[in-house]
Amino acid sequence: MRIDILTVFPDMLEGFFNCSMMARAQKAGLADIHLHDIRDYTTDKHHKTDDYPFGGCAGLVMKIEPIDRLITDLKSQREYDEVIYTSPDGEQFNQKTANSLSLLNNIIILCGHYKGIDYRIREHLITREISIGDYVLTGGELAAAVMTDSIVRLIPGVLSDEQSALSDCFQDNLLAPPVYTRPADYKGWRVPDVLLSGNQALIDDWEFQQSMERTKRLRPDLLK
Ligand code: ADE
Repeated sequence: MRIDILTVFPDMLEGFFNCSMMARAQKAGLADIHLHDIRDYTTDKHHKTDDYPFGGCAGLVMKIEPIDRLITDLKSQREYDEVIYTSPDGEQFNQKTANSLSLLNNIIILCGHYKGIDYRIREHLITREISIGDYVLTGGELAAAVMTDSIVRLIPGVLSDEQSALSDCFQDNLLAPPVYTRPADYKGWRVPDVLLSGNQALIDDWEFQQSMERTKRLRPDLLK
């Protein structure tokens, strides 16, 4: 899967995608993540990516030309399944969205900034607008990182069998059960006996009961 991220701050994301699972997925050829600096597609001598809004309200708006040039350039090289814009007023991102996006071949994620982007970009170039939650970030870079991380880890082969995404929270609308590792007894704080019993049927049943109990207590909305 290829993900092209369009931003005015590629440095913000560089380190993130060069670490841990995101770096492994790219080295293994399972994810192809490209950061593009929108500024490289400006043609004026000051490399302006934003300007004052018509109508005189406060704040700056991202300009249409460099973003259109960049998206047009990418689209001339391959077909894209979605051109996503990160915005607090978009549809809410969740595990279901991550699952469906992870099945696509090529996506573009445009990170917004300032007061927003020239609305014509949303009208003519964007196919989907996504928010990662009901709060406002200074820019869409963190939202792009959050979405890309949760999408890429779902690509078959990125996680090992033991880390399988099938046992993730939310995959079946249940929170995951508690997990423990050695030592089995730390300062008298003991790991539940059932996990040491070696009886897999009992362990599976306990884990399911724990998932149900935690979901009822912490996220009853998921059971509706
Ligand atoms: N840009 C600013 N806030 C955002 C949010 N909550 N989700 C996605 N993009 C954003």
